[in-house]
Amino acid sequence: MSNPLLRTKSIEEILADSDRPEHRLKKTLTAWDLTMLGIGAIIGTGIFVLIGTAVVGDAHRPGAGPGIVLSFILSGLTCALAALCYAEFATMIPAAGSAYTYSYATLGEFLAWITGWNLILEYGVACVAVAIGWSGYFNNILKTLGIQLPVWATHAPGSAEGGIANLPAAIIVLLVTVVLVIGVKESARTTGVIVMVKLAVILFFLAVGFRAIEPANWSPFMPFGFEGVGAAAAIVFFAYIGFDAVSTTAEEARNPQRDLPIGIITSLGLCTVLYVLVAAVLTGIIPYQKIDIHAPVAEALRVAGFHWGAALVATGAVAGITSVLVVMLIGQIRVFFAMSRDRLLGPWLSKVHPRFRTPHHATLLTGVGVAVMAAFVPIGEAADMTNIGTLFAFVLVCAGVIVLRRTRPNHPRPFRVPLMPWIPLCGMLACLGLMSFLPTITWIRFGVWTVIGVVVYFGYSMRHSKLADKVMPQAQTVTNQ
Ligand code: ALA
Repeated sequence: MSNPLLRTKSIEEILADSDRPEHRLKKTLTAWDLTMLGIGAIIGTGIFVLIGTAVVGDAHRPGAGPGIVLSFILSGLTCALAALCYAEFATMIPAAGSAYTYSYATLGEFLAWITGWNLILEYGVACVAVAIGWSGYFNNILKTLGIQLPVWATHAPGSAEGGIANLPAAIIVLLVTVVLVIGVKESARTTGVIVMVKLAVILFFLAVGFRAIEPANWSPFMPFGFEGVGAAAAIVFFAYIGFDAVSTTAEEARNPQRDLPIGIITSLGLCTVLYVLVAAVLTGIIPYQKIDIHAPVAEALRVAGFHWGAALVATGAVAGITSVLVVMLIGQIRVFFAMSRDRLLGPWLSKVHPRFRTPHHATLLTGVGVAVMAAFVPIGEAADMTNIGTLFAFVLVCAGVIVLRRTRPNHPRPFRVPLMPWIPLCGMLACLGLMSFLPTITWIRFGVWTVIGVVVYFGYSMRHSKLADKVMPQAQTVTNQ
């Protein structure tokens, strides 16, 4: 093998690796569990919290106003294109690691590493934004009950409110971490119940809000033109992240070939419809300038006079956002697990607990890291970083589908992306288009993050990679196999 950056891992190798007893995860998840996991990951901080900023705008960009409906459609379509590519990959390569694993099979080790590095933004940093969103609604409920936590203990230092640490955000992350160390099936079951609660709350919001719609509030429809709609689409993209988390649990699925596309496509489709409806009702019941940015959905009902309804929605939001946290943490843990199994990260991260059969080291590292960041980073910054990293990972996944059709044309594909290569090409363009609406500061941070990733790759991962062992047997030192 000449160039280590371009070495790929064969699909057969990937599947064989996931079947080694010391790395094997329990195969317990059904189509229902996967769809629930999908919805569990999707509906959360994006629709309950970030929609507020997307409608009114912030220091970096204009808002969409009632045109937010279009923003959701744009973002949803972008995700649908990527989702089709995910479905083809997930059924061909039903192994943990999602986009990272797919890139390793197609685009070579270096781009696989870069994908994995971006998935840390998609899952790990997303968990930070999600936990902060959770904390916002949690404080909202406490306020309704007459309990006011001090500002210093509920907001990050760089936030508009200027606190010291967001303690509720950190504590919820640590609690979920403990549940995850104990086992994925247990947490998937809990997620199922919570998903029902949050769907019920959204339907309740739609039913109550529908009667309070004042069509005059929808005008002007796009107060800041297409620029506002595009900028908002790049924010609410966050609300769709998570459909691909289904594919990170592929190794734990009982029948991945059939159930993964069902889980990915059903959950994304259902959420898109609900989001468009929520966006229309939200901007229909109060003038867009008055929409709150911390707990917009609950506050809109309160402004419209439904006080008990607002409290109910806030409670459902807390439950719903908790389930997002569970699935996104699982996603991050699985990505660390897969990268460590390939030795691009330290081998200790892919150890499975002898009794619980969960990757407890990866779980603890993720949980503690996310908790610390949730305490100290403002929500908007975490969400923008998540979006840029995820969009870039989607670009690579779309490219990977095209590459694999050429390099492995005859490998069985239980699910095939239609209209090749147009769907993946449009997917790449749409993702790059959304990225172009993100603020300059986010691009700078993304550049720095990428440089750090490149340094780690050349400083550690390239030499420790399992594939390096294979091509240079004399360099083999310690392996834990
Ligand atoms: N889509 C997830 C959320 O909105 C990440 O919370």
